[in-house]
Amino acid sequence: MSDFKEDILKGRVALVTGGATGIGKEIARTLGKHGARIVITSRKQENLEAARKEFQEQGIECLAVPSDVRNAEAVEAVIASAITEFGGLNIIVNCAAGMFPAPIERMSYNGFKTVVDIDLLGTYNVTKAAYTAYLKEHGGCIVNITAPFEHWGVSSMAHVAAAKNGIESLTRTCAVEWAPLGIRVNSVAPGFISDTEGVKRFTDSVEVEVDKSLKGTRQDMANAVLFLVSDSASFISGVCIRVDGAATIDLLRMPVV
Ligand code: NAP
Ligand code: COA
Repeated sequence: MSDFKEDILKGRVALVTGGATGIGKEIARTLGKHGARIVITSRKQENLEAARKEFQEQGIECLAVPSDVRNAEAVEAVIASAITEFGGLNIIVNCAAGMFPAPIERMSYNGFKTVVDIDLLGTYNVTKAAYTAYLKEHGGCIVNITAPFEHWGVSSMAHVAAAKNGIESLTRTCAVEWAPLGIRVNSVAPGFISDTEGVKRFTDSVEVEVDKSLKGTRQDMANAVLFLVSDSASFISGVCIRVDGAATIDLLRMPVV
């Protein structure tokens, strides 16, 4: 739970892609705990249903709709369901992503494309569909979950780094195009977040020693998103908040691969 007041998102509807597992699930739960009605989407129906049930038991109203974010029509259908079910859509969190660490030598053309399609194209699909169906007329806010790769070359992560840096650029473009419409667009870039699929995949395949002080929690991530979608951030748009305990700006402590 965060330190924010419980009802700060009362009356709002939030869509979290990738909201049935890991960081996305904690974001969805936290926004729900603060009063928002939640829509989650991803591919695996069983994960969606389990998360929906868990949220319901915690008093969070949740709609779970399966989709692949690479498919624009499927994404439009999720957004239409959200608006029909809850009467609006105020907050979008683009958290769905895929990754497998691999050096370029072992990354096929399709492997690179697959991750860029899920992360960057998927974020574009959801953002564009939500803008067209609701945000354009009513305003709202979008938070994109990226990674703190802005100034770094990261071995075995060519696809993720290209996609996430693309999302950072998209974030800034949307922020400037849509500021006059009352739509704020920001990003949150996690470093090493414990108990997540992302870290598991990375540490399973890349030899890496991460100092305890550089490991964050899923709640740390959710709190940053909660701040950005709250009215306390009403004049903040086009920025990236790194949630990484300063890992990526500390040359001396950065884990050596
Ligand atoms: P995760 O639990 O595997 O979350 C990824 C989610 O995306 C899953 O729920 C997955 O569900 C969904 N997804 C994947 N492909 C999809 C598709 N084509 N269409 C719709 N949904 C799709 O991993 P996580 O570690 O918590 O990562 C969450 C976010 O944080 C990601 O954006 C990741 O890049 C970012 N991140 C994490 C870390 C970290 O420390 N873990 C570090 C940097 C960035 P399905 O498989 O059911 O579709
Ligand atoms: N190493 C090298 N290439 C790999 C790979 C690995 N570990 N895993 C997948 N690929 C390649 C495949 O070989 C394929 O390329 P090819 O057609 O040239 O053989 C391509 O990537 C697509 O694989 P596919 O399994 O068809 O993709 P998908 O769309 O079903 O799944 C993934 C996408 C690969 C990203 C999958 O791992 C996934 O669904 N991840 C979601 C969860 C996740 O990644 N969580 C961490 C969040 S950051």
